[in-house]
Amino acid sequence: MSAIAREAGKLLLQYFHQGLKIEYKGDADLVTAADRASEALIRERIGQLFPSHDVLGEEQGLNDQGSDYRWYVDPLDGTTNFAHGYPVFCVSMALEHQVSEQRSSGQPGTRIAGVVYDPTRDELFTAEQGSGAQLNGKAIHVSKAAQLKECLLATGFPSHKRHKNPNIHFYHQITLRTHGVRRAGSAALDLCNVASGRFDGFWEFNLNPWDTAAGALIVEEAGGKVSRFDGSPFQIDSRETLASNGLVHDALLQEFKDIFAGRGLGPLPDPRVYER
Ligand code: IPD
Ligand code: CA
Ligand code: CA
Repeated sequence: MSAIAREAGKLLLQYFHQGLKIEYKGDADLVTAADRASEALIRERIGQLFPSHDVLGEEQGLNDQGSDYRWYVDPLDGTTNFAHGYPVFCVSMALEHQVSEQRSSGQPGTRIAGVVYDPTRDELFTAEQGSGAQLNGKAIHVSKAAQLKECLLATGFPSHKRHKNPNIHFYHQITLRTHGVRRAGSAALDLCNVASGRFDGFWEFNLNPWDTAAGALIVEEAGGKVSRFDGSPFQIDSRETLASNGLVHDALLQEFKDIFAGRGLGPLPDPRVYER
């Protein structure tokens, strides 16, 4: 997996340096030739090594052959950054094992391996279930921050149905209670930055399985916690992702509960008042 991710990352960098035409999947949902070329390369490599495995990739969808193994592939996470020349993007790949009994009884599969490769920094994050997480082969661990007021967090905003997303309220409230909230534009890297202790937590609404499959395993294997916004177990199709170092997880869940209930919400400052 690491070799495939590195090869795809190298391909992305070549496209990045040569500049690209932007195409639109939605009003603000971008795609480029690099997304497609990276996915084609990854599918070709998986097909050569594991021809019977299923693959779900963002650009080409699901190739379902009824295998117990399924790959989740985001060939370029951070397309908007990439298309604007902002060097924060990566390749994300995860492998899930789900035996037919699990599938027929609706139980989730087990994520057994994940890799995220950032070609701009040559950083390869890896994890295998039960074996810890690594950055370029060295063990990584989540941070030790135990109080929200000493935390740096990250979040993201979707590129479709933007007007329906309430995240600006969460962004505002949590910014006021922490050292700050970053919005770098690559959910897979955000999760890896939690795993390596650079961020103490991350959340986002409505992510897709290919965004989170690898990063969530890497956070867990680095000693962190991933759940839905009400604390229930994270699953690959949860569409609610809250990751942390574990120590501040309950405090973040409490914040989410309060914000969803509208409790203690400071109003967003009124720009007309500022202007006056
Ligand atoms: C996006 C990035 C971004 C997140 C968006 C995702 P893409 O993935 O992960 O950080 O905020 O919700 O869609 O489209 O660049 O693969
Ligand atoms: Ca993505
Ligand atoms: Ca993508």
